[in-house]
Amino acid sequence: MDALKTSSRVLVIGAGAMGSGIAHVAAVAGHTVYLYDMQAEAVERGRAGIAKDLAFLVSRDKLTQDAADAALARVVPISSLADAADAMLAIEAIVERLDVKQTLFAELETVLSPEAILATNTSSLSITAMAAPLARPGQVVGMHFFNPAPRMKLVEVVSGLATDPAVAQTVHATAKAWGKVPVFAKSTPGFIVNRVARPYYGEALRVLAEQAATPATLDAVMREGCGFPMGPFELMDLIGHDVNHAVSQSVFAACFNDSRYTPHLIQQELVHAGRFGRKSGQGFYAYGEGKSLPAS
Ligand code: NAI
Repeated sequence: MDALKTSSRVLVIGAGAMGSGIAHVAAVAGHTVYLYDMQAEAVERGRAGIAKDLAFLVSRDKLTQDAADAALARVVPISSLADAADAMLAIEAIVERLDVKQTLFAELETVLSPEAILATNTSSLSITAMAAPLARPGQVVGMHFFNPAPRMKLVEVVSGLATDPAVAQTVHATAKAWGKVPVFAKSTPGFIVNRVARPYYGEALRVLAEQAATPATLDAVMREGCGFPMGPFELMDLIGHDVNHAVSQSVFAACFNDSRYTPHLIQQELVHAGRFGRKSGQGFYAYGEGKSLPAS
């Protein structure tokens, strides 16, 4: 199955950490990318973030200035989904809630062509459930990028029960054409990465709760001893505790409350405090002026 042609337009909904990263990837690959968010200022912030990331690539000789300028010009902010009616691939990266994503896809079905692919960047929610209320559930597929999307190669291409195999193949080929390493997965809780990663975060949080080690020690251990590029606390701060806690809750519930996936109260406390990690300036660590320091 062929990849989406570069002349095909791509719509990205949600201009936060993931949506802006995905828009960056699709624009560098040559697509015109419509970028939409329910908050207009998020689109502006997202586009400014893309400009910064492109400039970084230019500074490292990974992209020419002309290619970066052309990619940025292809990111088109829109304020209404109707402005993206000719998009052939929509990728949503909005809040991790099934009902909100279902509502968005129902609206997209009325706006986009019947052949348009409706892809979700969900980390954990059921693709089968997301597609079920729609008129064309076969068009729905998971296209799960990792954070930061321009840098991380892996993309999980996730099929629900109704996903048309040709749709999954097209998304797989497209991810490959965008320089990614796609893998096929089924719509099981957390798919592959988040299924395996949940007990990892959970155990790190239990070790912290037992006061056996600080976040900084645990992170250093996993980096220096196990060869991980980031430790669990650094990674949770990068993902965002709002997102990460929602994913923990979703995997736990979808696995019929299997205790291996029990979310931790520490995560919940951070969310209640608004300490979402890097994006809010504080999580396990405090961020500012490019430095990261232990938060307490
Ligand atoms: P974020 O909080 O950085 O951005 C979400 C954006 O979506 C916000 O700008 C918000 O205004 C917008 N939004 C929310 N509801 C909307 C709606 N109904 N219509 C239009 N825009 C809406 O979140 P982030 O981290 O980018 O996550 C987005 C999705 O990607 C979630 O499903 C998450 O599980 C998934 N994901 C997150 C990863 C991470 O490391 N943060 C990694 C891989 C997937």
